[in-house]
Amino acid sequence: MAAYIGHLCKLTLPRIRCHSRIDTYNHIRSITSIVHQSKKQVVLGIETSCDDTGAAVVSEDGEILGEGLYSQQKIHLLHGGIIPPVASRLHAERIESVVTTAIERSGVSLDEIDAIATTVKPGLSLSLSVGINYGKKLAISANKPFIPIHHMEAHALTIRMIEKVEFPFLVLLISGGHSLLVLARNLDDWCIIGKSVDDAPGEALDKGARRLKLRNIPECSSVCGGQAIEYLAREGNPRAFDFPTPMWKYRDCTFSFSGLKFTLKRIVEKLEEEYEIEGGRIIPQIEDVCASYQYAITKHIVRQTQKAMVYVETRELLPKENYTLVVSGGVACNQYIRRALSLLCSEMGYRLVCPPPKLCTDNGIMIAWNGMERWKTKTGILYNKDDIEAVKFQPKCPIGEDLTDDVRSLGIKIKRWVKFR
Ligand code: KG4
Ligand code: ZN
Repeated sequence: MAAYIGHLCKLTLPRIRCHSRIDTYNHIRSITSIVHQSKKQVVLGIETSCDDTGAAVVSEDGEILGEGLYSQQKIHLLHGGIIPPVASRLHAERIESVVTTAIERSGVSLDEIDAIATTVKPGLSLSLSVGINYGKKLAISANKPFIPIHHMEAHALTIRMIEKVEFPFLVLLISGGHSLLVLARNLDDWCIIGKSVDDAPGEALDKGARRLKLRNIPECSSVCGGQAIEYLAREGNPRAFDFPTPMWKYRDCTFSFSGLKFTLKRIVEKLEEEYEIEGGRIIPQIEDVCASYQYAITKHIVRQTQKAMVYVETRELLPKENYTLVVSGGVACNQYIRRALSLLCSEMGYRLVCPPPKLCTDNGIMIAWNGMERWKTKTGILYNKDDIEAVKFQPKCPIGEDLTDDVRSLGIKIKRWVKFR
């Protein structure tokens, strides 16, 4: 570790020297641009909360200067799911090269980096610990401030790197580990309007894809469950199979996806029996099953979000002239879900903003950007070695105060559900 950090510290000066053979004009221009660049604030972000080892260097104006990303997905697909000790070992094997890649690609040296941000919560303990130990050691040995990051806050704030989105705004975070409707008031001020009582939508999609044995379909063999279901659903009929709509009668915005998962299991068992399907073979009507499952998951997400919008309006939590819904997390890559949410937003008078798919799934960029937001506002930064050493990972950590009881107290009734196909 120490030798490696020493190596990173030496990266700066040779970059200027290597321009010495080009003509004088370009030489001066490139030096000017390096000097100009170095005036910008830059933050290194490190992410290891689940199964992606990510690192990135981001500038104060949201420019991605360099990124390193290693996805463990293919290995976990072989195991039929994430096995925490395996994920942790893979993070440990890759973290050094991922961070080095991000820094080298950025063209700035470790010396020039202003602060190191690292995901410390929530996530898998064994995964979080790899990133946090690495980030802390790097910060201490390179004498840099350390910025602990909340993974879900980072997902929610990524959009502000790309577009002007002012606080406060409503956020829907849909990923493999979370399903959250949140009000973002400020960097450090978040309220939960709805959360899942069981599975997350990505989890329901991943488990569903495993039950459907989608890995045995060549086009789906190396992609995550959500992507595989989205791909097959394109050719299917979303009304072919009946799924319940969870929680819609309840006067709150709580999510629950496990019932849908069980309905899917029952449908698959019935089809397998009917068509005498055994082993790794795929049921007929797989496209219809995927389309119906995706439709049911989407309908649930859209309905709970519609209720959240009514809650926000009733409590006057957002400025009426600037209703904004930010959607992020891995499941936000899904174009069918995006289209349904876009319909909901246009009917409810909201602006819908989603980061590009690459920035919806886990990555180091979102951590670096969240670090940069904190760095610019000087919030949540640790400068002192003892304070940095004392930082612990937190596998569970609510993003903010839970307003579910207040939502229920209003007895929200929806007169007309927004429809989508
Ligand atoms: O945010 P993320 O990368 O990791 C977590 O923090 O969980 O999200 C991963 C999840 C997986 O469950 C994956 O199946 C889902 O995002 N996902 C998708 C799509 N791409 C990724 N779900 C639906 N449609 C997609 N296109
Ligand atoms: Zn995530």
